[in-house]
Amino acid sequence: MCCLAAVLAACATVEVDKTGMTTGDDYVQGVCNQCHTHERICEKLGKDSDYWSGTVGFMRMMGAPLDDSEKELVVNHLASLDAGDPSICQATYEQPPE
Ligand code: HEC
Repeated sequence: MCCLAAVLAACATVEVDKTGMTTGDDYVQGVCNQCHTHERICEKLGKDSDYWSGTVGFMRMMGAPLDDSEKELVVNHLASLDAGDPSICQATYEQPPE
């Protein structure tokens, strides 16, 4: 029942090697680009932690591999960024294919 968005090759469990990831930024950079590009996150920057808590919870239902404490780090990090933050909007690391 994972695939409301079956068009994205997103629904399989995503395997991420989280060795060395400690901050919210690390998890965003390493986990959140597994199913879609960071453009999607960039569009939503500037929203508050309620938005991010709901959205990251939804991402976990979609298969994002984050435990509760990792989720909290990600939520706090994203809620602290302003719209257009370059760490998200101009990310240069590998993005998944469109
Ligand atoms: C397991 C795959 C997967 C992972 C990992 C994932 N996402 Fe998503 N994400 C999706 C899918 C599927 C959608 C819906 C795409 C669509 O609208 O077609 C989505 C949509 C979004 C949206 C747009 C929501 C909206 O209301 O328009 C945001 C923001 C987002 N993701 C943020 C994140 C963040 C932050 C992370 C890391 C914590 C993340 N995603 C990790 C699958 C994933």
